[in-house]
Amino acid sequence: MENERKMMIFCLLLAALCSPVLTGEWTATVPKNLDALVTSCVVIPCSFTQAKERLPHSRLRGIWHRPASRDDCIYHEDKTQIVENFRGRTELLGNLGDGNCTLLMTEIKDHDDGPFCFRIELVPTGTETSKIEKFSFVNDCVRFKMITEPPKPTLIHLKTAVQGRSYTITCSVRHTCPSHVPKLTWSRGTADDINELHREIHGGFWEVQSTLIVIPEEKDDHTDITCTAKFNGLRTSTEKMTLYIKRKENYNHIIIPAVVGIGTAVIFGGLCIFMMKKYKNRIAELQNQEGSMWNRLSRLSRRRV
Ligand SMILES: *[C@@H]1O[C@H](CO)[C@@H](O)[C@H](O)[C@H]1NC(C)=O
Repeated sequence: MENERKMMIFCLLLAALCSPVLTGEWTATVPKNLDALVTSCVVIPCSFTQAKERLPHSRLRGIWHRPASRDDCIYHEDKTQIVENFRGRTELLGNLGDGNCTLLMTEIKDHDDGPFCFRIELVPTGTETSKIEKFSFVNDCVRFKMITEPPKPTLIHLKTAVQGRSYTITCSVRHTCPSHVPKLTWSRGTADDINELHREIHGGFWEVQSTLIVIPEEKDDHTDITCTAKFNGLRTSTEKMTLYIKRKENYNHIIIPAVVGIGTAVIFGGLCIFMMKKYKNRIAELQNQEGSMWNRLSRLSRRRV
């Protein structure tokens, strides 16, 4: 029963996935918006599903153009078809045969805000002189939000460090050019103390993260540590933090006097008990003698009266 239901859900999912292919539709997926850092680069993630049979890269022609005109190409495999402003600045990173139409754009200028749209064409084989089938995905266009100042890295760390104990600082920065990842560098530490992570956050937005582990000493108190992000195109941004070192917890100033005090008391007390025991008999003797002497004296005095 449970299995049948699972099977049914699976079939429905499969049908949903296959439907664009079965109905002969071509679909492309492109993010609507991306940030673009002026002078740097942007990778536009793009994927498409083919209608009928899977065609190899050589049978497909991927074109990126501005929506105003299909001839306003910003990428074409025939470079002469590309408008001058974009010539030499665009590169198709994806393999069309895998349904990947990812585009790289370099040396971003402040007026490169788009929209940019993807279109695919079937390349006729030598014998086929008939019409070229064209598919256009003009509804799937990307628009750039132009960033003129490189974003500052973000630093995450605990407020205070403890002397002699490892202390972790994380520096991260967002970007949209995974083919040329921004380089994060620290003002101290060696490669052994640094760990780097690169991940996609969502549709075309990426984050590079660097973690530094330091073992602070007393002399590092109130010193600065900086993290610098160097973007493709050589723009940089920096963020810094100040180390506040807490001394290692040390109770010697309480423990030593306490031990000395208790030790002295024990020795002194022991000595007293020892002396008391040793001279106990002698004291008792003296007391007895004193007693008898007193008795004698008092008897004598009574006689006189
Ligand atoms: C498309 O190609 C790019 C560049 O090679 C690659 O980084 C990306 O992972 C590919 N996308 C998919 C969905 O395979």
